[in-house]
Amino acid sequence: MNAGRSDTGRRLRIALSKGRIFDETLPLFDAAGIRPSEDPEKSRKLILPGSEADVEFLIVRASDVPTYVQHGGADLGVVGKDVLMEHGAEGVLEPLDLKIARCRLMVAGFPETDLSTSRRFRVATKYTDCARRHFARMGRQVEIIKLYGSMELAPLVGLSELIVDVVDTGSTLKANGLVPLEHISHISSRLIVNRASMKIRHARISEIVDRIADAVNAVNAVRPSPDGS
Ligand code: ATP
Ligand code: PRP
Repeated sequence: MNAGRSDTGRRLRIALSKGRIFDETLPLFDAAGIRPSEDPEKSRKLILPGSEADVEFLIVRASDVPTYVQHGGADLGVVGKDVLMEHGAEGVLEPLDLKIARCRLMVAGFPETDLSTSRRFRVATKYTDCARRHFARMGRQVEIIKLYGSMELAPLVGLSELIVDVVDTGSTLKANGLVPLEHISHISSRLIVNRASMKIRHARISEIVDRIADAVNAVNAVRPSPDGS
């Protein structure tokens, strides 16, 4: 789909995923005056009208948000930086750090794991490209095993020695006898915009981005982040 030929009369489409992203984005969008008129957790609809007549929300899988925005199926989207890094998201604009759903992308494993040995570790992860880049940067040979979730299980059953996953409180690692071993990247959710949409609907999209930026600043003025950003 080419957003360049899209009808500028149609509604502006914002791609969101259910769960954490939706819950944490809602107060920001609410403050910016563009809240969805229905709760996606209570609806089977995949397109939800917005409180402003020219905006609608697309409910998509978190890992599909960059694809929708990149190909013009959505004009804007909210997505974790982890998903964005893994996807590549070429040609997608990233005008705003929403400072929500903060976590860290980490290498984790059993506490006794010695990463300095020359052994070829097996690494289970859904972030295969991020993991490959990280271990190449560290000059380490690894075998990457693709999983789609519950990465913490892999070392417990001998599928891998290491995992790469997002860590927030660390309680999932701890509950499974694992520890964080290496930091890869700080993660938060980003507002992303289709490049062609930004050109065609520049005034309206800029206005929305500015309103959401104001909401992010207002939230973070009263709740400074742990890393001071
Ligand atoms: P999918 O359904 O496509 O597999 P998902 O299950 O990873 O996606 P969520 O769990 O809703 O989707 O996570 C969305 C985003 O929230 C992640 O991409 C990441 O940026 C962030 N995130 C994931 N886990 C945590 C966590 N425990 N604490 C804070 N942020 C998190
Ligand atoms: C994510 C991630 C870890 C966990 C880390 O899973 O894949 O398993 O969160 O968070 P923690 O460090 O605070 O334990 P998921 O999206 O399933 O998380 P959820 O269980 O928090 O929904």
